[in-house]
Amino acid sequence: MKVLVIGNGGREHALCWKLAQSPRVTKIFAAPGNPGTALCAENVSIAPDDIAGLKAFAAARQIDLTIVGPEVPLTLGIVDEFEKAGLKIFGPSKRAAELEGSKIFCKGLLVRNDIPTARYKRFDDAGLAAFYLAEASPPFVIKADGLAAGKGVFICANGDEAHEAIDAIMNKMVFGGAGRRIIIEELLEGREASFLAITDGKSVIPLAPAEDHKRIYDNDTGPNTGGMGAYSPTPAVTPELEREIMQTIMIPAVRAMAAEGRPYKGVLYAGLMITPDGRPKVLEFNCRFGDPETQPILTRLDSDLFELLMAAAEGRLEDIRLSWNAKSSVCVVMASGGYPDNYEKGKAISGLDEAAELQDVVVFHAGTAMENGLVVTSGGRVLGVTALGDGIQDAINRAYEAVEKIYWDGVYYRTDIGRKAL
Ligand code: AMP
Ligand code: GLY
Repeated sequence: MKVLVIGNGGREHALCWKLAQSPRVTKIFAAPGNPGTALCAENVSIAPDDIAGLKAFAAARQIDLTIVGPEVPLTLGIVDEFEKAGLKIFGPSKRAAELEGSKIFCKGLLVRNDIPTARYKRFDDAGLAAFYLAEASPPFVIKADGLAAGKGVFICANGDEAHEAIDAIMNKMVFGGAGRRIIIEELLEGREASFLAITDGKSVIPLAPAEDHKRIYDNDTGPNTGGMGAYSPTPAVTPELEREIMQTIMIPAVRAMAAEGRPYKGVLYAGLMITPDGRPKVLEFNCRFGDPETQPILTRLDSDLFELLMAAAEGRLEDIRLSWNAKSSVCVVMASGGYPDNYEKGKAISGLDEAAELQDVVVFHAGTAMENGLVVTSGGRVLGVTALGDGIQDAINRAYEAVEKIYWDGVYYRTDIGRKAL
């Protein structure tokens, strides 16, 4: 079977790495991929939002299954386009991807279906939003409605910060049209978890729960990033809580989407807050695999990923059972100094081979490029160094042992990934 993976991050390297282990997969293409995917796939230089180009490639090469990494092609309707052309693809349709593409749609669906989430109000007028602030009491969580590359959420301690956030989103339009509408919601306290499930629109199969580390600095301080590291499993999600999440959030959401005429298939990724009373609430839904959560999750998956995703694309998940490695997995993201703000690119990376030689370690590439035969940095999040261990502490030790072998000028990483699990 020939597979096309769309995207060029650490998530896509992990997808290619895992798909390459399937006896049914004979050839993997990555569009556009990165130097890491080039180790297990053939990179083709088509951009993830070039839907016509991707469709033409998949048709010409008779791709058996296309797997979409990032959200943008999904919200642009790549799944609808491929299916119209008779091409098999794993991911939600354009109307189903609205679950991530519009926070207002997502909140409406949650509330209409009694799925637990923070209380909220929606606004399409900056003046009315400001008026509301005067009546309500802080803190405020302010979110742009549309896609903002993970930067559209502002946690505001007081009214001044909230006014600034509204001004930036709705008047200065720093996220363009994504900020025409906003929501203001209550701040939830607790512990976050990333809960991903695979669905064909009927059956819903949970993946192993994970925890991301969104802030740039140790002890969850500093600005938000795309994710500085992740681990799985997380003790925050016990087997009982997993059942509750499935019964009160994941299955109802998939049923609701079908009932509203937007059948959802693909990955449903719930960003959850486990509130102090132990109840899970939805912070957001994403319509794709998480990055970096996919790296520790897939290194623990014993089952064949191709079988799973093909079964989902063909609507036969009912027959699928997953098996998981009992080990723990920790992924430490190595980033360019300065990220998530400005950073330099083109720094030569040393130590990749030494790190990869360590047992149970995989170095996933994200923002890397090849320059004159050398692997150099080319993005904010550069590598996801992922290790399996007997328990979280062992996995942490192994991951950092590998991290310490890798160097470039300006390298930055958090030193506390996984510590919360201890
Ligand atoms: P989102 O992109 O909606 O997942 O938000 C990004 C991050 O903002 C989340 O991972 C949380 O850390 C934080 N966040 C979002 N909504 C809330 C909320 N209602 N209460 C507390 N933190 C939140
Ligand atoms: N790790 C957060 C995300 O993938 O959205």
